Amino acid sequence: MKMNIAVLAGDGIGPEIMEQAIKTVKVVSEKFGHELECNYGICGANAIDKVGDPYPKETHELCMNSDAVLFGAVGDPKYDNNPAAKVRPEQGLLAMRKKLGLYANIRPIQTFGCLLHKSPLRAELVKDADFLCIRELTGGMYFGEKYQDNDKAFDTNYYTRPEVERILKIAFEYALKRRKHLTVVDKANVLASSRLWRQIAQEMAPAYPEVQTDYMFVDNAAMRMIQEPTFFDVMVTENTFGDILTDEASCISGSMGLLPSASIGLHTSVYEPIHGSWPQAAGKNIANPLATILSAAMMFEYSFGLKAEGALIRKAVDVSMEEGIRTPDIQIEGAKAYSTSEVGDWIASYIRKA
Ligand code: IPM
Ligand code: MG
Repeated sequence: MKMNIAVLAGDGIGPEIMEQAIKTVKVVSEKFGHELECNYGICGANAIDKVGDPYPKETHELCMNSDAVLFGAVGDPKYDNNPAAKVRPEQGLLAMRKKLGLYANIRPIQTFGCLLHKSPLRAELVKDADFLCIRELTGGMYFGEKYQDNDKAFDTNYYTRPEVERILKIAFEYALKRRKHLTVVDKANVLASSRLWRQIAQEMAPAYPEVQTDYMFVDNAAMRMIQEPTFFDVMVTENTFGDILTDEASCISGSMGLLPSASIGLHTSVYEPIHGSWPQAAGKNIANPLATILSAAMMFEYSFGLKAEGALIRKAVDVSMEEGIRTPDIQIEGAKAYSTSEVGDWIASYIRKA
């Protein structure tokens, strides 16, 4: 198959982890006889530095003309504590989501047997946790009308019926493919926007009789997720709640450095680790590349329907952890930690020999 991939490494640890994902993608493509073309684009703080725009037109065109986008991370501390900054790296990410119409963000939460001890939750609680967070990504407060002066400010949590219907449809369909249990997370006891979500979900549910649909308030869901993570199969929620709940969910696995995501919608899909740019670690070759490598696995599966390729990457990741080829964040105490590039090299060579 011919695969034309846009690579946006971004800021901080983005370039280092992306290098490992690209190594992986290249060796998988060679092995399975795919013709791979990678084109690099700029985004985030480094794009602001270069051209004054965190998601320049050229980068957008590159994404639009590619079959899939692999994305690293954006963000730079010089913008974080400067409320007066007119442009911010994160705006690049939001612009990309909006312009590519990436309305569904899919974040699988899984645990890895050999890492259960890394979870802040007791191993017997998180063992077998395996669920999918589906976060609406182009609506709600992130994009609704905003206002700010010195005395007041507001953000509008605006949703329309078509926006809610399309994300719920994806959620019901994923539930059908999995354990057929969908939890719609909202705050319908307080928010009008949530009541619309719940009303539409209730209208749609009868069309999916095999799916058991639950409704849960977001505060309760936040609690349930750490009390009993195995309760969930597919969870769907609005943009802001999803942002918060997916960070919480990422702790279940033990390291943020392990979780991939896919953002899908109207145009080219984007695959990215859920963690940020970790500027303190940039250039040190210590960041965990596995979330980005697993995002590449999702890309093979979701964008190209290449299941065996994705499975081989997952296998390589599992074996690397079992063999102790781990970056410091997931290494066992006292054992030698491997660098970002050593993990990437190990995985590439495992795949080559497989
Ligand atoms: C995420 C991130 C982003 C978000 C930031 C970087 C704008 O936290 O992808 O979850 O809030 O959506
Ligand atoms: Mg977030």
